[in-house]
Amino acid sequence: MALVAGVDTSTQSCKIVVRDAETGALVRNGSAKHPDGTSIDPRFWWDAFCEASAAAGGLADVAALSVGGQQHGMVCLDAEGNVVRDALLWNDTRSAQAAEDLIVELGGGDRAQGAQAWADAVGSVLVASLTVTKLRWLRDNEPENAAKVAAVCLPHDWLSWRIAGYGPAGSPKGADLNALFTDASDASGTGYYDAKSGQYRRDLLRMAFGRDDVILPRVLAPTEAGATADAAFAGDGTALIAPGAGDNAGAAMGLGMVPGDIAISIGTSGVVSAVAPQRTQDGSGAINGFADCTGNALMLAVTLNAAQVLDAARNVLDADFAKLADLALAAPVGSDGLVLVPYLQGERTPNRPDASGTLHGIRLKNMTPAHLARAYIEGMLCGLADGLDALKALDVPIERVMLIGGAAQNPALQEIAPQIFGLPISIPEPGEYVADGAARQAAWVLASAAAGEPAAQPAWSTKMFLTLPADPKPLIREQYAAVRDLV
Ligand code: XUL
Repeated sequence: MALVAGVDTSTQSCKIVVRDAETGALVRNGSAKHPDGTSIDPRFWWDAFCEASAAAGGLADVAALSVGGQQHGMVCLDAEGNVVRDALLWNDTRSAQAAEDLIVELGGGDRAQGAQAWADAVGSVLVASLTVTKLRWLRDNEPENAAKVAAVCLPHDWLSWRIAGYGPAGSPKGADLNALFTDASDASGTGYYDAKSGQYRRDLLRMAFGRDDVILPRVLAPTEAGATADAAFAGDGTALIAPGAGDNAGAAMGLGMVPGDIAISIGTSGVVSAVAPQRTQDGSGAINGFADCTGNALMLAVTLNAAQVLDAARNVLDADFAKLADLALAAPVGSDGLVLVPYLQGERTPNRPDASGTLHGIRLKNMTPAHLARAYIEGMLCGLADGLDALKALDVPIERVMLIGGAAQNPALQEIAPQIFGLPISIPEPGEYVADGAARQAAWVLASAAAGEPAAQPAWSTKMFLTLPADPKPLIREQYAAVRDLV
């Protein structure tokens, strides 16, 4: 039985699953935490990978592995393979002004034209999350660090490179920056890669960073192996490392998403995603036109405020998740007019990096823990429902809507989501979808290597275990829409 490993180097932790390459059956798993923050030394990702791998019983017996990870994080390496500065993550908003400046610059002074020009060129209007804006920030704010940059990569690229044995002095294979590789899904979130043509846009990189003489990871085809893992970290020296993926594409692969499927994910970020044959060029900026990791496009609306809004509610109410659900379910639909606009960390969709959250409509009647609990959940889901509307506006086919992320198991979310989205909602069996998608990709690459040509994707299935009927309650979204733009 050949085994494969899938790794998810996420914002909050590193998760590893080891699965049977043939059937997808779970054999072992492990995880380890990452520190909090939006600016992180990548060495913590390496340490967490090693810890998670040990917790999963080691990876010596895997024949292939793949790394999925948080998108966009700027990992800058010097010529010796050292990390130049802490990585700036997708949820770090310090480059918001840089994003605005770059939009206006590409539009020759006209913001609307610039927004459309970025969407046409790379699929997305720039926001602080995208790597290219972070490089502009680095150029302007830390010129001494900018001057040291010899290669730029993303969290998953860096971890794959380290597992292959490359890295700073002392690493088994040394600091070969040309050995860096990535895949189209993660490259498509940099802001300097065009998934339509499959080419880097070095002109845009130069415009942002002032130079383009940096090494960028090779973008692999979906079934191409990038390297073999160093036997000190995984396998016996022959284990293949698959291209990997951005986390949203990894989750799509783990769920087996095809065009017509929508996934609504409540994680550190809130994501509404759809697989489609062609990437979009949405000049409004609501939808990012990324790639998936199978050759399709992956369209995403991403909010900065999702699971953490529920954490904030638990803090305010001194409640665990079960109590939060009990409270929320005790309040009426629409919380008697109490509306939370959940921009607790600024917001990305809509693009309001400096906004804060607000509670509207406070009355004596609704100042109860139950109303407050429900308002937090309704507000967070309304932000995601706006994302779904943006996808609908682009005529994306919607045949099945899945709710994923730990919060999808919460009874209050299961009752309120069909009210807000107004559609039937499928809740897949709980799982580590990003790590599972990475494992599936590893199995795909392994099968392709054995066949000597791209093989069919392994037919691992995801069992739906719950489908909730639509229960539209338009009041909730009407109330939200009336106050959302006051912020
Ligand atoms: C996608 C995005 C987030 C991160 C972190 O554009 O910024 O979903 O990938 O999960």
